[in-house]
Amino acid sequence: MARSRPSRRSFIHAATGLGVTLPFAQSLRGATLLEELMRTPEQTAGPFYPVPEIAKQTHSDADLTRQAADGPVAEGEIIQLEGQVVGIDGKPIRGSIVEVWQACHSGRYQHTRDTNPAPLDPNFQYWARVTTTDEGKYSLKTIVPGKYPGRTPHVHFRILAEGYPELVTQMYFEKFGEANQKDGIYGRLSQPQKERVTVAFAPADIAAGTPAGNFRIVLAPQASDRATPPMP
Ligand SMILES: [Fe+2]
Repeated sequence: MARSRPSRRSFIHAATGLGVTLPFAQSLRGATLLEELMRTPEQTAGPFYPVPEIAKQTHSDADLTRQAADGPVAEGEIIQLEGQVVGIDGKPIRGSIVEVWQACHSGRYQHTRDTNPAPLDPNFQYWARVTTTDEGKYSLKTIVPGKYPGRTPHVHFRILAEGYPELVTQMYFEKFGEANQKDGIYGRLSQPQKERVTVAFAPADIAAGTPAGNFRIVLAPQASDRATPPMP
């Protein structure tokens, strides 16, 4: 019906907040494609997932800028990385596990496979695991990862939530727009997907001077759990 189209587009705009272009919205058919538009896209885990490197660091708490709470601070620009894990219905997912791993200021991972000659930072906590609150929220203190050959700066994420398939993805920084556009893995994403994983960091606390960014993670259920697509 002709009247259904404007409301459908409006729903897509409201649901994604992405300003989806009309031709793209019109190409959507059924719930599966809509979910693909809304969900946080999967990205490769890469070769540096921290297991079994976990044993090399004694801490995995929400503050990656230092090892021990009273230890020396890592090099690099400190940022507050916050977000919420939600389902495609927008409801928060409490108790989900959020793992992050990233390079230090020099662009080096704490991993035996990383052949980058850049120095490791003995004070940086390269990996963290946190659990989302009742509101589905998480909060991490970390640094802007350094560039390493072939990639734009990014933070790896793995999310484990009951009732959802594991999601592995990567988060990017808006301020590295030119490097992002040259990045092959980033380039595999559609424009709406890029917007889902690209975060702008801005000063949240002028006194503290720590830039803060929000990375909202949207999980889609297993294909077999999906509701029957609506009639077109
Ligand atoms: Fe990486």
